[in-house]
Amino acid sequence: MRIVLGITGGIAAYKAPELVRLLKKAGHEVRCAATEHALEFVTRVTLETVSGAPLYSDLFASGRTEHISLKDWGEMLVVAPATANIIGKVAGGIADDALSTLLLAFSGKPVIMAPAMNCEMWAHPAVQRNVATLKSWGIRMVGPEEGELACGVSGVGRMAEPEAIAAAVCTATCSRRLQGQRWLVTAGPTYERIDSVRFIGNYSSGKMGFALAEALAKEGAEVELVSGPTALKIDHPQVKVTRVESAREMYAAATEVFPRCNGAILSAAVADYRPAECADHKLKKNGSEGMHLELVQNPDILATLGSMKQEGQTLVGFALETDNEEANAQRKLEKKNLDYIVLNSLRDKGAGFGVDTNKVTIIGRDGSHNESPLMSKQEVAGLIINTVTS
Ligand code: PMT
Repeated sequence: MRIVLGITGGIAAYKAPELVRLLKKAGHEVRCAATEHALEFVTRVTLETVSGAPLYSDLFASGRTEHISLKDWGEMLVVAPATANIIGKVAGGIADDALSTLLLAFSGKPVIMAPAMNCEMWAHPAVQRNVATLKSWGIRMVGPEEGELACGVSGVGRMAEPEAIAAAVCTATCSRRLQGQRWLVTAGPTYERIDSVRFIGNYSSGKMGFALAEALAKEGAEVELVSGPTALKIDHPQVKVTRVESAREMYAAATEVFPRCNGAILSAAVADYRPAECADHKLKKNGSEGMHLELVQNPDILATLGSMKQEGQTLVGFALETDNEEANAQRKLEKKNLDYIVLNSLRDKGAGFGVDTNKVTIIGRDGSHNESPLMSKQEVAGLIINTVTS
C-alpha cells in the first residue's frame, strides 16, 4: 500500500524514521509530509533517506498542487505524532500549511492518527471534543499511551510505539479474507549432511516461500512456515516459523501440521537424495583420485501430503523445470494429487533461485492456466494466493 506519513511537532517525531522502516518492511511504500515544527525534532535528510522519497513540507516550494498529487498517490495517511494542534486544525477545517492542507484534501481515504502530547492537554475538553469529531468522521486513533512524558510527568499522552502504529496500519490494510484459516508453507533449500562440515544443498534463498507466508498472513490466515536453512526473518504475529535443515526434518514438520491446515503451498527446493551415511567427523582425503558417495532417496513431502489430503484441503506444489516444462508440471500435478502447480522455468531470466523476482505459470487441476509476467516475488505470491484461494 502507498502510505503518506505525516509528522507534526512533538518530541515523539524522533520515532518517525523507525515507523517508516517498519512500514516499508511490511511491504508498504512510504512518503513523508512534515510540519515546520516537526523538522525541529527530526531532520529532512533522515526522513528522505529512510523513505527514499522527497519530503513534502512546504506548500509553495514544489508547485502549489503537491498536496493534490500526494493525495492522489497515497492510499492511506498516517499522522504520527499527531499534536493537539493538528487534531484541532483538522476538526476545525483549517488548512494553513502543507500537512493540514493534505489532510483536508485526503477525504474519502483511510486516515490513522497517533496523538502525542502532555497529559493535561490530552485531557482538555477541547482536545477530547476534537478527537471525538475526527473519530466520528472515521479517522482512527492509535493511543496515546500512559507513561512518562517528555515534560517529566507521567500520564496519558505518550505516542503509541511505532510497532503498535504499524500493527494498526496492518489491521486496517489487511483484507481478512482468510481469517480463521491455517496454511502450511515450505520454503528454502534443504541441507543433506555428508559429514560434520559438508552438505548437499541448493541455491534456494527462501524468498519465494517467505513472500507466500507473508501474503497469506496479510489476508488474515495463520501460517505455519517450515523453512530450510536461510538468513531470512519474518516478523508477523500470524506466522509461526519452524526451522529445519534436512528433507527428513521438513517432512516430519510438514506432515505433522498439514492435517490442521486448510491448505499447503510447497515452494521449498527439497533435495531428492541424501548421502546414505553421514560421517560424524570431517572426512579426510583417502589418497585415491576419486570418491564415491552413495545416495539414497528422500521422502517426497508433496506426494505424501497429496495422499493425506482430505476433502476441502487445497494442495499447491511448485515445479522447477528446465525442459518440457508444462508437460512435466502437469504430470506432477496429477501424480501427486495436487489442486494447483506453480511452474517455474529456469529458462526465464530473472526467475527462480535467489533473485527478488519471479515469473510463473499457475496450472489448475481444472485446466486453468494463469501466466504471470516477471514481477517481484511479493507480487507473484499475491497472484498465487488469489488464484488458489478464490
Ligand atoms: O527460494 P528462492 O530463492 O526464492 O527460489 C524459489 C524457488 C525457485 C525455489 C521456487 O520458486 C521453486 O521453484 N520451488 C520448487 C523447487 C523444486 O524443488 O522443484 P521440484 O520440481 O524439484 O519439486 C516439485 C515439488 O515437490 C515442489 O513443490 C517441492 O517443494 C516438492 N518436493 C520435492 C522433493 C521432495 N523430496 N519433496 C517435496 O515436497
